[in-house]
Formats: sequence, C-alpha cells, structure tokens
Amino acid sequence: VQRCEEAGLWLWRVNPEGGFEHSVSALRELDCLSGNDWFHACLGGAADRWAGEKTPRPIEAGPGLWLVPFPILQRRRCVAYVVGIGFAPGFESGFLGSPGSDCHSEAFAQFRSWIESAPRVCPESLATVHALLLGTLEDHTRGEVRDETVAGFTDQLTDAYETIHSLYSIGRLLGDVARPERVLADITTRLYETTAFRWVLTRVASDARFPEGLQGQLIASNDDTIVLDDYRDHIALFEEASIDANDGKCILLEAEDGIPEAIGPQVAVQPIMRGGEILGLIAAGLKSGEDHQISSYETLLFEATGGYVFSFLKNVLLYHDQRVTFLGTLRALTAAIDAKDRYTRGHSERVAMLSAALAREVGMRPDECERIHIAGLVHDVGKIGVAEGVLTKPGRLTDEEFEKVRAHPEIGYRILRDIPSLRDVLPGVMHHHERWDGRGYPHGLSGEQIPLMARIIALADTFDAMSSTRSYRPAMPRDLVLQEIERCAGQQFEAQLATAFVKLDFSAYDQRVREHHDQELDLGDLPSAA
Ligand SMILES: [Fe+2]
Repeated sequence: VQRCEEAGLWLWRVNPEGGFEHSVSALRELDCLSGNDWFHACLGGAADRWAGEKTPRPIEAGPGLWLVPFPILQRRRCVAYVVGIGFAPGFESGFLGSPGSDCHSEAFAQFRSWIESAPRVCPESLATVHALLLGTLEDHTRGEVRDETVAGFTDQLTDAYETIHSLYSIGRLLGDVARPERVLADITTRLYETTAFRWVLTRVASDARFPEGLQGQLIASNDDTIVLDDYRDHIALFEEASIDANDGKCILLEAEDGIPEAIGPQVAVQPIMRGGEILGLIAAGLKSGEDHQISSYETLLFEATGGYVFSFLKNVLLYHDQRVTFLGTLRALTAAIDAKDRYTRGHSERVAMLSAALAREVGMRPDECERIHIAGLVHDVGKIGVAEGVLTKPGRLTDEEFEKVRAHPEIGYRILRDIPSLRDVLPGVMHHHERWDGRGYPHGLSGEQIPLMARIIALADTFDAMSSTRSYRPAMPRDLVLQEIERCAGQQFEAQLATAFVKLDFSAYDQRVREHHDQELDLGDLPSAA
C-alpha cells in the first residue's frame, strides 16, 4: 500500500466485474468516487478488458484516469482486484460530473480541491511501476507463504518435541513394580501436566491377578474447577469403548457416544491392552486452549503411554505372582518346621507378623518392613537340623542338648545363605538370639552391634514363646508377658524397641493364635500331631 501511494496510486479493492468492495488506502477524499457513475463506468470497462488478459495491464480508463490492476488469486482464479487509481496530467474533476449518490456536495468540493494538487502519475512509466509492484507483491506473497510454512513446521516440531518429552518423562517413571499405585499416580499426573487436558484418569482393571490394593483402582488428576463425579460416572462408558478398541488404538468419544458437554467435547480413551488382553484404561477430556479437538500428537502420546503402562502392569503381575509363590513357599517350609513340635505350630508366621508390626511402629519404610516380615518367617529355619526329640523334650535339656538347640541360628544361616533373594534377611536369622547386654548367642554381640532386624525379631520371638504353651511350661497371661518384656528392656532387649513393642495392638496377633489353635484341633487325630 505504501509503495503504491508513493507512486501516486490510491488503492481500492473491487470484485472481478469492477464493483467497489472497499477502500484499501486510508484516503477519505476518494470516498466520493464510490458512488460516482462516470467513475464506475470506467472501472467496469477496465475490468472487462482485464478479464481477457492473461496478465491484466494498466489502462487509461478515462482521460487522465489510470487504473492499475493487482489480481487477487485463489487457486489460480481471480477473486478480486486491488486497483491502483492514478491521476495523470489531463485528468479533470469535471469528468466526474455531479457528486455520487452517497457523496454530499461539501465532500465533493473537498475532493475537487484535493485533486487539483494531488500528485500526478506519469503514464509512460506506469507499465514499469506496475511490473515492479507486481514483483514486490509476488515476493511478499511468497514470503507470507514461507512464513506460514515455517510457522506450521514450528508448530509440528513443537508438538512432536512435547510428545517425545512427555513420553521420555513417563518412561522414566516406570520403575518400582513393588509400588505400582505410586507409579500409576505419577504417570497420570505427568500426562495431566504435559497435555492441555483438564482431567486425566487411569483405571486399573478389576483383575484378580493384581495385588488387592490395585484391583479396579482409579487414579485421577484434574484442575480445581472440575466436578469429579462428572467424569467418574462415565467410566463404564469408557470401559465399554475400550473393549471394542482396535488393539491398543486410542478412541475418541464425542457427544453422540454419550459424552456430556461437562467432560468433553471429546474424550480420549486409551485402552491399556495388547493381544486382546485388557489391563485397564487411560482417559482424558476437556482439552483447553484454542483448539478443543484432540490432535494426532495427543493420540500418539496416549497410545505410546498405553503401551508402556501395559508392559509395566504385566511386570507388576509377574512380580506379584512371584512374590506370592515365594512367600507361599517360605510359609510352607517354615510351617513344616514349626509342625515338628505341636507347641510351636504357627510360631514363625506370628513372629513374622509381630516383627513387621514393630518395624512399622518404629517408622521403618514399607520395603524394610516387608524384609523384616520375611526374616521373621525364616528365623528358625535352622531348627530343621535339630533333632525332634530335643525340640519337643518336656523337661530340662542337658548341656549337650542345649548346645544343639543353640546351633539353630547358624544352621539356618548356612541353609539360606545361597539363596540370593534371602541374603538381606540373613542377619535376622543369625542373630535373633543375641541379647542387648551381650549374654546371648551365637556370637555374644551386644547393643547396636546386633543388627536392628535381629533386635526386632528377638522381641517378637520371645513374646510369642511366652504367650504360647510350650512342652516345658504353660502359656503366660498377656499382662505378665508384657511386664516381663518391660522388665527385660535394656538387658535382653533394646529399651526403645521394648517400649514400642508393648504399645502394639495385638488383636490381629490374637486372631492368628485362634486360627492356629483351630487348625491344631482339626489335625488333633493325626498321628503326626500326637
Ligand atoms: Fe530361634
């Protein structure tokens, strides 16, 4: 516009027939021409000529009135012209006759006085000026197209980068199969943070193979404005959609699929599935920003995340299955040992239970408590190497027999030391008969020399021994047992642990004692229990 005006051309936009559309130059005086019959006849004639020209050229449409066309093309078709209006020497305002219909006389007078002093174009150079301006226009258009292309690429690159970045950060979260709820919560939050969705949820299938706390779990992240029920109420709908999903593909649900405005307009449902096996789903909706439609980058992100989470959940299943088998095997092994003596049936399991409870009470981490539970379960495994007659002997043991019993921690240690997954519980097995004052066995360790795990098991072991009937004495009542433990604090037991121990809630323990007692009654007639 500026270049044209510098060359003395004032710009209007007209339709292909020459009809006025609007003024491009901000020159008020020219408004007078828009309703002028003579001027319109000139424009119409010029448009006729241009329609027949391959490259429309400047034309003297009336004496001294030059019209310079710049076609506006869409898909190579001319949809309008921007016309440069130039006044050459020889133009006279008198040609216009009377003012146009929408121009009152005062404005017309202003136009006439403006035109007297308006810059004149030079007809001889108009062809050159036109060619130059067309070239400039072409360059400008090309530049604009380039800018648009670059902007498009930039947007795509940004989207691709964000997708990769999100996937990378989600990939890094897939760690701890022992704590899957945490991992899934982190992934859900990450998806919510890295996308424009105002709510994201992960639903774990109600599959009995999962650990109990994980079956049917619903983990969600959303902004404060969202009413949770709005999308939670539609989970059945999401699940239904994910069953029909083409293996692992993201599904977009809309109003016609039953998605209300409050959670839509589109909801992405990503089944966590492979080979027809569904382990859950991820869903997200209420995309914010300018574009509410879910993009291909977002579906790509969901599909890849769905794949990740599927592999992760498969590992969780595998880990859980192994853990259950492992614990089951340990339980069977220790129960077999406990059964050698009818008075110690269930002892190892109860010691495991109490040890873990004490570990929790003194603030140990869940994974540490779990290891202490296992250590409690296997602490007396060495008794397998002690003759049954000695273990179940009603009266006092001879020194020689007592030596045999005292060997069980070391025998247990030797039995278990070659099992890699039990290596970390060996200190509990070896040292559960050490005493805080150093008068225990097998190594006579004292104080903090004794591994914490062993100090904990020692308390649980003694408590259970005193609380149950043994071949050599009857069970002691609960209050006496606790008094005895308090009395031995600082001698046999670490004082702090003993104080924490006597405060434990023993109801679950008592329940187990009753169960073990009932099992014993069931087995009462079998010769092995006699
Ligand atoms: Fe023991």
